[in-house]
Amino acid sequence: MDRLKRSLHVPARTASPYRFTEPRWRSALVAHSGPAPAVTAAMSDFGYRTDELHGRANLPDDLAMTGPVQLLTPEGAGFLREIVHALKPCAVHNDYVVSHRLRGVEALSPFVHDMVRDSSFLRRASHLVGVPLVPHPIRDAGVQINYYEPSRTTVQAAPVAKWHRDGMNYVFTMTLSDHGEHEGGDYIYYRGHPDAFDRSREEITAAGPDHPHVRTAPFQHVGDTMFTRGSRVYHAVTPVTRGHRTTLAVSLFCPLLGDQDENRFWHSAPDDGLLRTVSNWRALRQAVRRPATYCRRESIPILPMPRTR
Ligand SMILES: [Fe+2]
Repeated sequence: MDRLKRSLHVPARTASPYRFTEPRWRSALVAHSGPAPAVTAAMSDFGYRTDELHGRANLPDDLAMTGPVQLLTPEGAGFLREIVHALKPCAVHNDYVVSHRLRGVEALSPFVHDMVRDSSFLRRASHLVGVPLVPHPIRDAGVQINYYEPSRTTVQAAPVAKWHRDGMNYVFTMTLSDHGEHEGGDYIYYRGHPDAFDRSREEITAAGPDHPHVRTAPFQHVGDTMFTRGSRVYHAVTPVTRGHRTTLAVSLFCPLLGDQDENRFWHSAPDDGLLRTVSNWRALRQAVRRPATYCRRESIPILPMPRTR
C-alpha cells in the first residue's frame, strides 16, 4: 500500500538543471587490468543452490561479487568524479531506500551515456562477470549516483542506504571518493542467503557491521568498483559522519538469459511514478523478447561471448 501511494505522485526527476561542460568520453578511458580483487565470491558462498541460479549449461552465471576492480583509468575515474560533483544539485532527496540520489544519469550526462554504450567498457564488465552484458533496458534505473554526507540539521537524518536488494542483477558500484575523505559510509553486505537475512533482519540491522555474517566491501580509492549481484545480495550503506562519499551505480543486463532479472514492477514504481514505470516496463519486456532490436535501437554494440574471467 505504501508503494502504491508513492507511485501515484509523479516524483521530481531532477532538483535543478545541469549545465556543466563535460570532458568527452573516449574508449581509452577504460581500464583493461588492475590489481587482483580482494573479494571474489560465488553464489554458493551466499548459500544459493544450483537450481536457484540463472545460468545454463553453456553459460554459467554463478559470480555473486568481485572487487575492487577498475573499470576506468585514473583519468576516466577523475572525469567521472568531476561530473558527479557537478550533478549533485540535480539529485533529489527521498526516504525510500537511498535517501539522496540521482537516477537516469545518462539522460543528463553525455559522458555517462557514451560510457555505458562503449564496446570496450561493456567488454570489460562482461569479462569480469563471465556473461555478455549490455545497459539495462530500464534506463531510469540504469545509472544512478548516490550522495552521502553528514546530516546538516538535527531533524534530518544523514543520507543512508537501508538494507535492501536491488531490482537489477548485475550492478557495478564505483566509489568516486577516497576512503580518507569520509568516516562511515561503508558499503556493507550480508554474506548469506536472503531467506536467512529475512529471518534475522532485526538482529542484523541492529548489529550492522558487527554481525558475524556482515562484511564491509573494501573500497579505498576513487575508481574502485565492486561488482555485486545486487538483486540477490542484501546490502546497505552506513551513515557518513564526516566528509562526503559519492558512488556511481551502473546496472547491466544479460540479453542471453531472457527473464533473468529480479526486478519487480513495484520496486521502481515508487521512484519513477506509475506512468513512467509502465513505459519502462514495456521497454524491459520488449528487450527480453527481442534483445537485438533493443541493442540496435539504443546503439548498443552486440558483443561476442566473453572469455572466462
Ligand atoms: Fe543497492
